[in-house]
Amino acid sequence: MYHEKLSAFPNDFLWGSASAAYQVEGAAQEDGKGESVWDRFVKIPGKTFKGTTGEVAVDHYHRFKEDVALMAEQGLKAYRFSVAWSRIIPDGDGEVNEKGLAFYDQLIDELLKYGIEPVLTLYHWDIPQALLDKYGAWESRQVIEDFTRYSEILFKRYNKKVKYWVSLNEQNIFITLGYRMAAHPPNVQDEKRLYEANHIANLANASVIKKFRELHIEGQIGPSFAYGPTYAKDSQPLNQLAAENNEAFNAHWWMDVYAFGEYPKTVWNYLKARDLAPTIEPGDMDLLKEAKPDFMGVNYYQTATVEHNPLNGVSAGKINTTGKKGTQEDSGLPGVFKTTENPYVEKTDWDWAIDPMGLRIGLRRISSRYRMPILITENGLGAYDSLEADGSIHDDYRIDFLRNHIKATQEAISDGVDVLGYCTWSYTDLLSWMNGYQKRYGFVYVDREELDEKELKRYKKDSYFWYKTVIESNGQTL
Ligand code: BG6
Repeated sequence: MYHEKLSAFPNDFLWGSASAAYQVEGAAQEDGKGESVWDRFVKIPGKTFKGTTGEVAVDHYHRFKEDVALMAEQGLKAYRFSVAWSRIIPDGDGEVNEKGLAFYDQLIDELLKYGIEPVLTLYHWDIPQALLDKYGAWESRQVIEDFTRYSEILFKRYNKKVKYWVSLNEQNIFITLGYRMAAHPPNVQDEKRLYEANHIANLANASVIKKFRELHIEGQIGPSFAYGPTYAKDSQPLNQLAAENNEAFNAHWWMDVYAFGEYPKTVWNYLKARDLAPTIEPGDMDLLKEAKPDFMGVNYYQTATVEHNPLNGVSAGKINTTGKKGTQEDSGLPGVFKTTENPYVEKTDWDWAIDPMGLRIGLRRISSRYRMPILITENGLGAYDSLEADGSIHDDYRIDFLRNHIKATQEAISDGVDVLGYCTWSYTDLLSWMNGYQKRYGFVYVDREELDEKELKRYKKDSYFWYKTVIESNGQTL
């Protein structure tokens, strides 16, 4: 669909950028912080690129004032960050650690000082290790109560200061990588456990949204979902069906629960027939239905192209965590779908499809299926950057990527989608979980390598200055 004239971005559009506690903070053992599952998991040999950890990360814990000053100078309107549960309640369910709260008090006040809207993520994958040891973390219903208690502390503390809240970040990713691929904590490969843990995470997500409403918190809350819209390889009906399957298994399975409080029937029936459907206790479905979010947070990186997968076909394939292009393997569910090449799109060095149109398509699909506003909580390009002798970083590839995705967002707005804001991933460079520090996403380059922290000095990339003009012009100058 071609628009002669695109709708303007709303005046209060949130031009933002994002990060997550484990990926930026460092200070892993400071001020009473407890151990998180990621602090432990990264110590298992072979789990992360070159054994990298977030022990120091980019030291945002000590340099947040410098980082926020850079945001202010750039004119950033919103900053999405996550709170580390293990800083607030070190063992997950015991005493509250005032020093941990003090850090976020300062960060939030610093943002507000410059008129930057804080977007607070309650959970970005770093549950306290003590809860994993005690009761298996997301595998026990006890986590619902403990996560709600932790969230309530934050709701009460930051009510009126924080207006945008993200409940769970990418439940689909931390559950799938954690329980199917053993690529995230708790390092498990078990489908039954996966679906049970996922249901409990759904209940925990709903429970905090319900608590948010009960406390009459002034603001909006929603989950952030990693959505990769699916294309069929071609018009062969079997491949079209595979695409439908992929949307059902990898998108509706989560977003239908958030928006409707219901599991999609096709996936449910498939799981039930294999004794994999989660245990539903009385009251569960009522809770899920009661907790409709205010917005759907969307983390968009790429589309998936799929085709029919025979019964003896592929399942989980190897993920490219080295940045050596072409090393990612196809993955799928036998008899249901499998990924395949899309000859129409370029790929990053980590084999992620670069597809701005996919963002427009995804926003439209979510908007028409769920009829709720969307907050783009992540979008960005992981790439190698090089620091020049004069301190500049010429990341024109990142500018192209972001420009095209912002344009796709504007097209979606012109199509009728209600988009509240757009957060790039990420603000500074950071630890890319399994991919080390060489996969850079930020506007701000941080001078450190995998095993050499150097001085962690900050440098503005070309994209930093480019985004400044985008914000100043409210998206008119791209
Ligand atoms: C999202 C996460 O999955 O994508 C971020 O919410 C993550 O935490 C980002 O860093 C990019 O993924 P990766 O694996 O390249 O770091």
